[in-house]
Amino acid sequence: MLGAWACGGWQAVRRCASLPRAVRLRVRDALGAREPVEAVRVQGWVRSVRSQKEVMFLHINDGSSLEHLQVVADPSLENRDLTFGSAVEVQGKLVKSPHRMQNMELQAETIRVVGPCDIWSFPLKMKERHPLEYVRQFPHLRCRNNTLGSLLRIRSEATAAIHSFFQDHGYVHIHTPIITSNDCEGAGELFQVEASSEVREPAEKTHFFNVPAFLTVSGQLHLEVMAGAFTHVFTFGPTFRAENSQSRRHLAEFYMVEAELSFTESLQDIMQVMEDLFKTVTSTVLSKCPRDVELVHKYVSPAQKNKDRLEQILKNKFVTITYSEAVEILKQASQTFTFKPEWGCDLQTEHEKYLVKHCGEVPVFVINYPYDLKPFYMRDNEDGPQHTVAAVDLLVPGIGELCGGSLREERLPFLESRLQRLGLADAYQWYLDLRKFGSVPHGGFGMGFERYLQYILGVDNIKDVIPFPRFSHSCLL
Ligand code: 4AD
Ligand code: MG
Repeated sequence: MLGAWACGGWQAVRRCASLPRAVRLRVRDALGAREPVEAVRVQGWVRSVRSQKEVMFLHINDGSSLEHLQVVADPSLENRDLTFGSAVEVQGKLVKSPHRMQNMELQAETIRVVGPCDIWSFPLKMKERHPLEYVRQFPHLRCRNNTLGSLLRIRSEATAAIHSFFQDHGYVHIHTPIITSNDCEGAGELFQVEASSEVREPAEKTHFFNVPAFLTVSGQLHLEVMAGAFTHVFTFGPTFRAENSQSRRHLAEFYMVEAELSFTESLQDIMQVMEDLFKTVTSTVLSKCPRDVELVHKYVSPAQKNKDRLEQILKNKFVTITYSEAVEILKQASQTFTFKPEWGCDLQTEHEKYLVKHCGEVPVFVINYPYDLKPFYMRDNEDGPQHTVAAVDLLVPGIGELCGGSLREERLPFLESRLQRLGLADAYQWYLDLRKFGSVPHGGFGMGFERYLQYILGVDNIKDVIPFPRFSHSCLL
């Protein structure tokens, strides 16, 4: 069957309309059709059934849009298995709808129940707005809920927008390894990878890969290798941290967007890319899935007046303060913190929240952190008496840290002596090589994708913006 997709979406439908067989349409394309189509076929899941004496109404959804397609049918097509949740294929005529709220509707000629659904044991109920906490208990079924559907469509649009942003700006996409032997952040939050005991000989003492191997905590070091050839590179993939934190903004497995830019001497240039990425992706999402965003803002985070807030943020330049200024602001705060703010100490979530509030609940760049707080690869600012590195964190309201980045130490003697002091010089010989053979000033950053979605959508729990709430609620799907 040469369906509408095979012909290239709705535009192609008119071209294919002369085909004798019914044109297969996604719900979104059926709803967006500008003229009637004699014979169409729509497949999806029933979201509501309303049977009257003379007519039966069905709402069908196939995940292509938040809106359902209304099917109007003769009651003789009713069938015991035609219930909420069942999978159906409807064939008929696509016509202009007399209802104000919808453009087109489908006049059914045949309805085939492809897969029935037992409504009594199905955890989702017709016309009920289930809270996110409720649907989280059914990770294998919750994508059929409206809110989760919207969240995941937005996630998909944002993913595409991130790729487009970098491709449009001349970056090369790199698949960095998932299994690696380096601990980029040096924070020891690693999951180790070994063959299962069934694969290993009982007496075997060596590692599967001969060296300890881990799930990646960041693709940065691999991106630095590639930036030494392609100038501007990015990666966007799964990242793992064994932080054992049950907080509403931490995951063991999350997606990180990372970029690395060669021939970049100023931290401001890196910050500009972070800000442009945030603003471009957010406006794309707002314009490509307005109804999905509207639903999430209305039912998930109504108190936050999200759309206005976001539009305001997109218009204004992000605020920048130094770490030293941040500590002064915190020291002068009337609020008492659990962790006393002190120069040289890490900013805690309570501090980050206070800082964004202080700056007017907008995104805030904090730059130039203490040398001793940050990983070995960050560039020494050679300042004093308070010694700092060219690091930047982007803090956002309600979440705290959204992005982390820095200029990288490109000077061989600086890097060599720092690695030696840390006892890492042997392990990082290859990294030192990058500073021996055509080293250039460079820098980059990483943005937590789930935290980004959480922030723009006002979602409280990070587990609600991932397709599967992995390793939570005893769910190991
Ligand atoms: O600040 P991080 O640790 O930065 C790096 O890993 C750098 N090597 C990135 C780079 O420069 N290429 O992590 C980057 C971002 C954080 O700002 C945060 O948004 C997110 O990743 N993140 C997490 N998101 C969800 N769950 C976790 N456990 C996270 N840990 C970090
Ligand atoms: Mg960080």
